[in-house]
Amino acid sequence: MFIPQEFIKKKRDNLPLKKEEIEEFIKGVSDGTVANEHISAFAMAVYFNGMSLDEKTNLTLAMKNSGNTLSWDLDGPIVDKHSTGGIGDIVSLMLGSMLGACGLYVPMISGRGLGHTGGTLDKLESIPGYNVFPDDKLFKQVVKECGVAIIGQTSSLAPADKRIYSIRDVTATVESVPMISASILSKKLAEGLDVLVMDVKVGSGAFMPTYELSVELAKSIVEIANNAGVKTEAILTDMNQSLAYSAGNAIEVQEAVEYLANKRVNPRLHSVNMKLCTSALLNSGITKSEDEAIDKLEGVLNSGKALEVFAKMVNMLGGPSDFSENYEKYLPKANIIRSIFSESTGIVESMDAISLGMSVVGLGGGRVRPGDKIDHSVGLENIINLGNQVEKDTPIATIHAKDEQSFEIAKKRVLSAIKIGDKKIETKEIYEVIR
Ligand code: URA
Repeated sequence: MFIPQEFIKKKRDNLPLKKEEIEEFIKGVSDGTVANEHISAFAMAVYFNGMSLDEKTNLTLAMKNSGNTLSWDLDGPIVDKHSTGGIGDIVSLMLGSMLGACGLYVPMISGRGLGHTGGTLDKLESIPGYNVFPDDKLFKQVVKECGVAIIGQTSSLAPADKRIYSIRDVTATVESVPMISASILSKKLAEGLDVLVMDVKVGSGAFMPTYELSVELAKSIVEIANNAGVKTEAILTDMNQSLAYSAGNAIEVQEAVEYLANKRVNPRLHSVNMKLCTSALLNSGITKSEDEAIDKLEGVLNSGKALEVFAKMVNMLGGPSDFSENYEKYLPKANIIRSIFSESTGIVESMDAISLGMSVVGLGGGRVRPGDKIDHSVGLENIINLGNQVEKDTPIATIHAKDEQSFEIAKKRVLSAIKIGDKKIETKEIYEVIR
């Protein structure tokens, strides 16, 4: 009989865990024979002692196999992208449609906002009628016909992670590279992927607190996923400021549509998006060189094919059929849309990106408690970039707020999050690729 405390003791004493033992433990997590106390003690032992590559891979696969896994019968590679989370990160909305237009299939299962970071599902729910929880049949049909479907996680996908995550959340064991890797990958690998590209954020708004820890997480994810048979690359990208011009829900969707329509393209966002798309095209063998990948991606943007894919996905999942032309009519608008201005002269030297994200949460665009209803119309737009020269009265952001009181609170937060000084600073979007 499997005895959880014997298993935990092994990890506590740094002894190797066998594949079968890990599977038994996860089976117990799923059927309830393993108690919350066992899970929390195990997570803490892993937090302190780490895991070998084989242990991490076996944990990931056991968690993945705790629920349904998707299988596909399609004429192209199945790919996805996952980001560790950030502010103004709308890459998923564009990347999915662009890769779909290039002949790949992207069954993207996304999450809601977490802490200061935005969530793709919350953004998509700004679109009237968009159903983030279609049944399996419709999900598969949308992936097949559009090349992409972005939906939410159902309870049948990696349920062991759901239970373990909720215990880690309250036992100070979230920040463990093996546990984070297994948690993210158990869900992604359940999608039945051939190729995965990870966007691991670095900087003041990133989930991992230091560059070194972001690298460690990226390396761990790449090793486990490749070991599990999914061709995976991680790209370390900048999160010292908002990635897009906007941070919110409806306003980010608007920016994504305008990007796909070639109306408003933020260069930083474009650079990160193109890098991630290129990685997916190269690793799935659709293109042979980076130049060829870029040509293909620019082709689907310039021809309007990527926008068509997005519009079709939105419509098949319940949104309006003319959303890509008339998005302004459909997206909710805040009562107050007003710019705020710099109070001094100098260079935008640094940003507290977590505070920027929290200002969106404070406006009502994110959740304070699980299950809170969010206001899709609020957020920040035209956010100034790091390194910009500002004068007194240069606009530094436009706040979309529901009332004067929340506008004033957001204004204070944003002004104190942005530091104006005299130091010239270099910024970059892409730091490193981990293969
Ligand atoms: N995101 C996840 O899905 N799991 C973690 O453990 C951390 C971030």
